[in-house]
Amino acid sequence: MNTSKILIKRFETRQAVVGIVGLGYVGLPLMLRFQAAGFQVLGIDIDPNKVEKLNSGETYIEHISSEKIRVARQHGFEATTDFSRAAEADALIICVPTPLNKNREPDLSYVTGTVDALAPHLRPGQVLSLESTTYPGTTEEELLPRVGKTGLKVGEDFFLVYSPEREDPGSKNFTPGNIPKVIGGHTPACLKVGTALYAGAIDRLVPVSSTKTAEMTKLLENIHRAVNIGLVNELKIVCDRMGIDIHEVIRAAATKPFGFTPYYPGPGLGGHCIPIDPFYLTWKAREYGISTRFIELAGEVNAGMPRWVIGKIVDALNERGLALKGSRVLVLGIAYKKNVDDMRESPSVELMEILRDKGAEVDYSDPHVPVFPKLRGHHFDLAGVALSPEIVAGYDLILLATNHDAFDYDMIKKNARLIVDTRGVYLEPAENVIKA
Ligand SMILES: NC(=O)c1ccc[n+]([C@@H]2O[C@H](COP(=O)([O-])OP(=O)(O)OC[C@H]3O[C@@H](n4cnc5c(N)ncnc54)[C@H](O)[C@@H]3O)[C@@H](O)[C@H]2O)c1
Repeated sequence: MNTSKILIKRFETRQAVVGIVGLGYVGLPLMLRFQAAGFQVLGIDIDPNKVEKLNSGETYIEHISSEKIRVARQHGFEATTDFSRAAEADALIICVPTPLNKNREPDLSYVTGTVDALAPHLRPGQVLSLESTTYPGTTEEELLPRVGKTGLKVGEDFFLVYSPEREDPGSKNFTPGNIPKVIGGHTPACLKVGTALYAGAIDRLVPVSSTKTAEMTKLLENIHRAVNIGLVNELKIVCDRMGIDIHEVIRAAATKPFGFTPYYPGPGLGGHCIPIDPFYLTWKAREYGISTRFIELAGEVNAGMPRWVIGKIVDALNERGLALKGSRVLVLGIAYKKNVDDMRESPSVELMEILRDKGAEVDYSDPHVPVFPKLRGHHFDLAGVALSPEIVAGYDLILLATNHDAFDYDMIKKNARLIVDTRGVYLEPAENVIKA
């Protein structure tokens, strides 16, 4: 039997060991999915604290319970910082960050650093899959030469695929197992082996003709969101000036049974994906002499939203004879979207910083984020405020930034002096509610 057939058999019979490199928001649920599907799983991460926590059966992501980690541990899951153990795995799935650097260009150092660290331990009879979101060409241009240098023959004794992660954090309907997964291989044999790997854990696979196509597919998905959110954010500003409630408009438009998909405006873009990933394409497209105008425009509109919201806050306070300087402002929700604890790129942080810089006294309340976490470049020495009628009534203004289900919106409305609602939570007009 040739190498690919042996490897495919090992996936089909669950004899294979699946190694997940990078145990974050993507890697950890994926590890649990492969474990639940009957595979032996090994986790590799550079962060010793995460490794220690996982090995003692603890979680560090709110929507993944410690119980699930303990069950995985009982079934042989182990986490390690030792990259030489990569040799034990039949499959290595890379789920490390792909941020932008300070010039807003792709920072692939996590991906290339991971592949460089794995390279000395790669062996014939393995498949390497990149899941991190990136620009088209990354697998061919960055991974292939690094693997090639080891002497392994990609498509013959070693297999290379790109399969982007699709996650809907906090969703009850979509899990890593039931979200269809796109996959592209460097060669047809790579695709076959990669498909055998994921077929063991994922209900539906969507094979495409190349790694580049798979990379571009993921970017299309995220650019589609960024551009449409930019559009509704722009329309929100127009509607506001015209005295129309954009949320009412969207609700009405969404009754059209075809050809319309609702997107919702907010105080800005957040999360690790939508504000960042589109610019991976912008950067790469420049190499081809093409400028990505939709992406840039949506980025501009979305990035301007926090300042627009601040303008609404200033106006609302001014109407009541108050200045922002010295006003007490309570920000509701600092995670980037409802019902999660993820703070990455959260527009609430920018809002809090602008408010603080303009002299407001800022507090926050977020049932998912009890203490303001350490974030690169952002600092607040704050713990979340527990809400009560007295606490709510004590602030000059409540800024509703993230619409977590856990908030008691009736109580807040009853007691707040002034609410600036950036999420369209309050449908009915009210004296103390300003939509922004
Ligand atoms: N979070 C999402 O909802 C989501 C959805 C789809 C795609 N993605 C993409 O998936 C990738 C990972 O995102 P994430 O949200 O899981 O990030 P994350 O920051 O939550 O996790 C990344 C993990 O990788 C580890 N790590 C960093 N460098 C490493 C290295 N050299 N070797 C091994 N481990 C290393 C970190 O310690 C961390 O545990 C990104 O490309 C992201 O764009 C994320």
